[in-house]
Amino acid sequence: MYRSHNCGELRSKHIGNEVVLAGWIQRSRVMSGQIFVDLRDRYGITQLSFFEAENADTFAQAKKLGREFVIQVTGKVVERQSKNSNLPTGDIEVVVSKLTLLNASKTPPFTIETDTDGGEELRMTHRYLDLRRQPLQSALKLRHQVSMAVRKYLSEQDFLEIETPYLIKSTPEGARDFVVPSRMHQGHFYALPQSPQTFKQLLMVSGYDKYFQIVRCFRDEDLRADRQPEFTQIDCEMAFVEQEDILNTFEGLTKHILKTVVNVDIKGDFPRMSYEEAMTKYGIDKPDIRFGMTLTEITELAQNKGFQVFDQAEYVGGIVVEGGAEMSRKEIDKLIDYVKRPQIGVKGLVWVKCNDPIKSSVDKFFDAEQLNAWKSTMNANDGDLILIIADETDRARKALGELRLYLGNERGLRNPQDFAPLWVVDFPLLEKDEESERWHAMHHPFTSPKPEDVALLKTDPGKVRANAYDLVLNGNEIGGGSIRIHNRELQSTMFDLLGFSKEEAEAQFGFLMNAFEYGAPPHGGIAFGFDRLVAILGGQENIRNFIAFPKNNAGRDLMIDAPAVIDDAQMTELGITST
Ligand code: AMO
Ligand code: AMP
Repeated sequence: MYRSHNCGELRSKHIGNEVVLAGWIQRSRVMSGQIFVDLRDRYGITQLSFFEAENADTFAQAKKLGREFVIQVTGKVVERQSKNSNLPTGDIEVVVSKLTLLNASKTPPFTIETDTDGGEELRMTHRYLDLRRQPLQSALKLRHQVSMAVRKYLSEQDFLEIETPYLIKSTPEGARDFVVPSRMHQGHFYALPQSPQTFKQLLMVSGYDKYFQIVRCFRDEDLRADRQPEFTQIDCEMAFVEQEDILNTFEGLTKHILKTVVNVDIKGDFPRMSYEEAMTKYGIDKPDIRFGMTLTEITELAQNKGFQVFDQAEYVGGIVVEGGAEMSRKEIDKLIDYVKRPQIGVKGLVWVKCNDPIKSSVDKFFDAEQLNAWKSTMNANDGDLILIIADETDRARKALGELRLYLGNERGLRNPQDFAPLWVVDFPLLEKDEESERWHAMHHPFTSPKPEDVALLKTDPGKVRANAYDLVLNGNEIGGGSIRIHNRELQSTMFDLLGFSKEEAEAQFGFLMNAFEYGAPPHGGIAFGFDRLVAILGGQENIRNFIAFPKNNAGRDLMIDAPAVIDDAQMTELGITST
């Protein structure tokens, strides 16, 4: 028996017991005649003590132990002289009578404690050591709990978990494919799935009317805090459903996860907001509704008073910062710099301080009466600060949306312990790529238009709304899905609109369109970004901490050093010639 208890288990009630523990040495403090060791495993930390007077041999052995050595000890649980209320085991310690060194360790390159001195790169290179740290251990535990909650809930609702292949052909989700060369068919490549989209639709044709899978997806796209090249989805599909059924089912799942994992009850139905409203009021399609500060347009009010910046703009609008009139010039300048950064790219910011008298950065052009008219239209109060941006509508709204989030963070309005889910619905079916002037599917090409908008496909495709929805949690898109096209003809029309020739559509998606000719039921689904969901439940937005072995920002695994070159023989075998 390696251990009778784990390192997080012992309490006062165990005082007097003889126990066996095994674990890693987090720290050791050598004093005269006495050594204290913090012994760690994934359950916690237990203090061990060695007394020279009681057991000279063990004491001598303990003196030689270094950080991260793996040991096994036998000893007696005693009450601790100076209790540590920060540790669950802080009332007791184990006086060691026998020590076995299970394995020595090199001195780790960074301290393996809750707060570490190790830089990002060093920790990524030694991920297996970083994973010993408590915050990462609880992150992975949380991940496990979410996956268990999902499986239990969906299984009880009659969903079947069915695996789909990884070596497939391109699935269009808007990113580039990762490809795998075929040795047996030289010059041919598999693509790794960007999602199991086509397979889950085929499963509906096969009659598995409630499917789910916790599944890895691969997308070659630019990485960000909430994006990894391989990430996990809770992928779901249902047959004989309408949008309402999907929203209800997965609202139920989300509530169940929030309840079982973080003990949060969401009362009532999740709010629903149209894409149009989200863009107008929040400047973004994934609004954080934990706080207000919504956008108000004042184009008409603000124009034709001689201020060129406003007069020439398509849109003038702003947000109100409660109590913001107290901000200093320097603080406001910081906001101006923020919106002028190339990532946001507007040219400036007009401010109005709702003091008495009302004061603005454009007093030259607008008198108090005009400024007060803005104040009342924007529902600002005395003591508030109004911030206004003028630009093309999309850019101005997006900039205001970003400024809103920035201020939300600065002013502590985005409490990670608050959970505010909502559905964003009625997305446009298509969006136009500015450069190529081509239509793109906003969600993916299998998404059904709203039946009442189908006629517009021929006349005004940009106006067609999709039967598509996103689930948003605290300003993050944690899920997205749609009702699908299940009719071959409509699917062909879509491919046509998206600029696929008949031959291209046939070559790429013939299998799906053919399947639609054998009794495809109406169907629809959703996929949750599992990593994102877990990260938000854990109060963070960076998904990397919630993935055991993630890639860095450059898409590299620094620990195993991938991607890497392969040797010539392997290249030849695969029929790839190096250049
Ligand atoms: P979508 O492309 O919206 O839909 O993806 C679903 C969810 O997956 C998450 N996600 C990511 N998470 C981490 N890293 C990434 N690179 C990444 N890309 C996406 C997001 C997103 O909401 N087949 C459709 C679903 C459907 O229609 O049923 C799909 O994949 O949280
Ligand atoms: P300028 O004409 O660039 O000197 O700007 C005059 C004032 O208008 C400055 O206070 C700018 O910060 C502000 N401003 C400039 N461009 C914009 C814009 N697009 N939206 C809001 N304010 C702006």
